[in-house]
Amino acid sequence: MQATTDYLEQNKARFLSELMDLLRIPSVSADSKYKGDVLRTAEALKQRLIEAGADKVELCPTKGFPILYGEKIINPALPTVLVYGHYDVQPPDPLHLWDSPAFEPVIKKTELHPDGAIFARGACDDKGQMYMHLKAFEAMMRTNTLPCNVKFMIEGEEEVGSDNLGPFVEANAQKLAADVILISDTSMIANDVPSITTGLRGLSYLEVEVTGPNRDLHSGVYGGAVANPINTLCKMIASLHDENGMITIPNFYDKVAELTAAEREAMNQAPFNLDKYKAHLDIADVAGEKGYTTLERASVRPTLDCNGIWGGYIGEGAKTVLPSKAYAKISMRLVPHQVSAEITELFKSHFEKIAPASVKVAVRPHHGGEPVVTPTEGIEYQAAALAYEKTFSKTPIPQREGGSIPIVALFERVLGIKTVLMGFGLNEDAIHSPNEHYGLFNYYKGIETIPYFYQYYTELKTK
Ligand code: BES
Ligand code: MN
Ligand code: MN
Repeated sequence: MQATTDYLEQNKARFLSELMDLLRIPSVSADSKYKGDVLRTAEALKQRLIEAGADKVELCPTKGFPILYGEKIINPALPTVLVYGHYDVQPPDPLHLWDSPAFEPVIKKTELHPDGAIFARGACDDKGQMYMHLKAFEAMMRTNTLPCNVKFMIEGEEEVGSDNLGPFVEANAQKLAADVILISDTSMIANDVPSITTGLRGLSYLEVEVTGPNRDLHSGVYGGAVANPINTLCKMIASLHDENGMITIPNFYDKVAELTAAEREAMNQAPFNLDKYKAHLDIADVAGEKGYTTLERASVRPTLDCNGIWGGYIGEGAKTVLPSKAYAKISMRLVPHQVSAEITELFKSHFEKIAPASVKVAVRPHHGGEPVVTPTEGIEYQAAALAYEKTFSKTPIPQREGGSIPIVALFERVLGIKTVLMGFGLNEDAIHSPNEHYGLFNYYKGIETIPYFYQYYTELKTK
């Protein structure tokens, strides 16, 4: 695959400017005011996929945003790689915390990215990582080195729960038939410590509403005599963890797969510097479940977090009010073998039970997804490991991660296909945060490494 590496070398500037153009379109799937921009992104990407050399390129309509499909079948007898990614991005808020506008990409050097990084919403998650696959494909096409068949499925609703992807996959199982799914939408340990993601957490996401009196009240006239739903909600949320950082919902841990001592030892051998971790986040100490390391807490243990909380008066100055309602958004990250719908139900019944008679509560489930663990034996992992060894000159470390890509479990269930997670982002790249960025090193290294995966996978599969 020296040919594709040479091709990359000759086309670096264009590969970068194309990504910057893509990052200028604010494809925020969560907010309807960006609807036209999300659609424009899909159209732009469709053109890029056609130019790269794919056949049968189409935007498949769904109830929500379209799914981009394209393929190159060079020989039906050869293996097929199905590439998945997403072109939608998280909302850029809070805007005032960005050093430069979220949709005006700029390149700046950072401590971890001395060669420069592109700063923009979606730079890493997932436009930058997804676009590497189009460019790697282009490189293989132009150098006549594509060793197998490839299919692309790029969706526009990942950041809002992929509601329409499941039905699409079920209805198009034949069209999507493949031997392996390849995704770059996760992290690696460091630029000089390549790793392959071998697990993702599941998710239960819900919203709660606590109602006290039937209207906002004067906090002097009624304060002290009527339940304040904000006070009550805070107390209820606080009660969901005990003093050891464990979640107090009955039966929450029933199905949690505990790691063996050997597995724990292996995972804690991965390079990790707690002082650097704390310094990067500007925190004096970490927090979490007693008896587990930071690496374990952030990947193989389940969590419960309040993602947002609101109610009452938040405008300028003071308003003495005892609000009628308080709200919160709650996420729970799940690990094998917890089941999203079951955990949502456990939360709901517990939360309703702990509510005092002075308030009413409503729990509204949002989206969810199941956890996954991908095998380290098997030619899928082996091919990926060989590819990293080739381009990093180092053996990658298998690493389970804390984020969620709910569709991975569904691919396995519906299509019966295993996924390889070749993520090239860093945890420090600030995905979902202000100043999200993606290293130029990572972008180019991904484009360099992907063709080797195709080559080794085809060799191992056809041998
Ligand atoms: N790419 C992330 C998931 C991720 C990030 C996995 C880093 C591993 C490491 C993905 O776009 C994402 O943000 N997923 C959501 C879940 C979804 C249902 C909204 C998440 O994890 O919050
Ligand atoms: Mn993503
Ligand atoms: Mn994301």
